[in-house]
Amino acid sequence: MNVMATFPSGVVVVTAYGPDGLPRGLTVSAFCAVSLDPPLALACIAKTSNTLPAVQHTDGFTANILATGREQLARRMATKLSDKFEGIAWARAQSGLGGPVMEEDAAAYAVCTLQQTIEAGDHWILIGGVVDGGHRPGVAPMIFSRREYRPL
Ligand SMILES: Cc1cc2nc3c(=O)[nH]c(=O)nc-3n(C[C@H](O)[C@H](O)[C@H](O)COP(=O)(O)O)c2cc1C
Repeated sequence: MNVMATFPSGVVVVTAYGPDGLPRGLTVSAFCAVSLDPPLALACIAKTSNTLPAVQHTDGFTANILATGREQLARRMATKLSDKFEGIAWARAQSGLGGPVMEEDAAAYAVCTLQQTIEAGDHWILIGGVVDGGHRPGVAPMIFSRREYRPL
């Protein structure tokens, strides 16, 4: 565990819409690019995640790559609270695809449609086709390593 925890990653909030139309999401460090052509990205999500049914319902997700200083948001999205999104800014992607976009708190975001789900131990590997995205060039992403949030 300490070995994997050493590997530095960004901090991503994966979002989707539940069958009730409300936003769902969780904090993940297991997110990376897979392919350029076509553009694919993956996230690994625990089988116990309450966000998984929302990803299935949405048939996609949005990966919000958090900006530096968003520790509080990362911690909140890593809870099991049912009202995680209360007071948090989000918007629907223009395309209507993927999950909620949290532009104000993100350095960048990728809107994905679900391409493949692969069972891997106690997680699912979700492979998404990136259909839309955006980035804020002046905004630094947040880094997570050895269980600490760090600026870039
Ligand atoms: C920095 C950080 C990284 C995390 N990375 C992952 C991850 O890659 N995959 C995962 O399934 N959970 C990860 N978690 C844990 C989930 O965020 C946590 O279990 C959350 O409560 C799940 O919420 P949900 O059940 O509402 O989906 C991470 C938590 C933190 C704080």
